[in-house]
Amino acid sequence: MTSAIRTSTGAEHARILGVGGYRPSRIVPNAEIVERIDSSDEWIRTRSGIVSRRWATPEETVAAMSVAAGGKALAAAGIQADQLGCVLVSTVSHLAQTPAIATSVATELGAGGVAAFDISAACAGFCYGLELAQSMVRTGSATYVLVVGVERLSDLTDPDDRSTAFLFGDGAGAVVVGPAEEPGIGPVVWGSDGSQADVIRQKQTWEQALASGEFPHLTMEGNQVFRWASYAMAKVAQEALDRAGVRPEDLDAFIPHQANNRITDAMAKALKLPDHVVIARDIAEQGNTSAASIPLAMERMLATAEVKSGDTALVIGFGAGLVYAAQVITVP
Ligand SMILES: CC(C)(COP(=O)(O)OP(=O)(O)OC[C@H]1O[C@@H](n2cnc3c(N)ncnc32)[C@H](O)[C@@H]1OP(=O)(O)O)[C@@H](O)C(=O)NCCC(=O)NCCS
Repeated sequence: MTSAIRTSTGAEHARILGVGGYRPSRIVPNAEIVERIDSSDEWIRTRSGIVSRRWATPEETVAAMSVAAGGKALAAAGIQADQLGCVLVSTVSHLAQTPAIATSVATELGAGGVAAFDISAACAGFCYGLELAQSMVRTGSATYVLVVGVERLSDLTDPDDRSTAFLFGDGAGAVVVGPAEEPGIGPVVWGSDGSQADVIRQKQTWEQALASGEFPHLTMEGNQVFRWASYAMAKVAQEALDRAGVRPEDLDAFIPHQANNRITDAMAKALKLPDHVVIARDIAEQGNTSAASIPLAMERMLATAEVKSGDTALVIGFGAGLVYAAQVITVP
């Protein structure tokens, strides 16, 4: 006998209700890095836009940074932790295979008992999380969802590797996604390209690392990443605009993953963004923080009044996998 299964429905629309960030206390200027990689402050600034980055202290764990950023996002949204229906944590630098860090983060925030899991989508992790969160809100799986992007990339970076030692930083950014009267998160354009899985990766699996005694640091084919990000990602960003029915001139802000200022410049040029569109440059003082970079940049732009609540922004994340995701959003 077949019986009809009831389905749930949620809010008609979803939006980001609040954003919060956590920036580790230790500021690491280029001068501290250059000697080991035979580089210079000028080279790093010109090639990447980075002036300094933050590296976490032992106490600034993935969990601690997530809880700090998550708490700020909840406060900004005016939502209590016990109103959350799900906690998502995007990270590639929580160095325990299991369990997911999201369950501890949910419990520490006071949302214990809710659905909680980690997402492994590297620098696209925040945008992947945003899409999952808005789907949950709109299908009724959760009323409010906390999306955290967090990294301690300093743990995975080889200080002697010229192409990555200057690039990566640590930190956490979080948003609360919930119901809205108007659409606040546009259709996602996302995808992956496993044929380029080798271009940003750990040098070895954990098993190989145990056998060799060498730590499996990150390694990157910088040129290949640069070409892919600069050209293919502008097309993805344009498609996200088209699918949302938003023109470049309708945008107030462009908040791409803070990979590298030259990649940001190439995308802005390809998209023909008008001068009034404010472009996120959080990388200068934060480095590339992978899943954390977009919410951290958004938080800074709100704090400095470069953007205001209700503005329209284009977000795009891209990185190891290779993976990517882009959406048009309303700034919380
Ligand atoms: C990493 C990156 C900055 C390197 O720049 P690049 O121009 O590709 O560097 P190349 O490896 O081609 O080397 C160019 C020159 O710079 C030198 N160089 C490379 N790394 C250097 C460093 N850290 N400091 C000083 N010089 C360096 C090379 O020796 C080479 O010198 P030469 O021309 O005299 O032979 C660039 O590839 C990049 O931005 N890639 C994208 C990285 C990124 O955003 N990743 C995150 C994605 S999520």
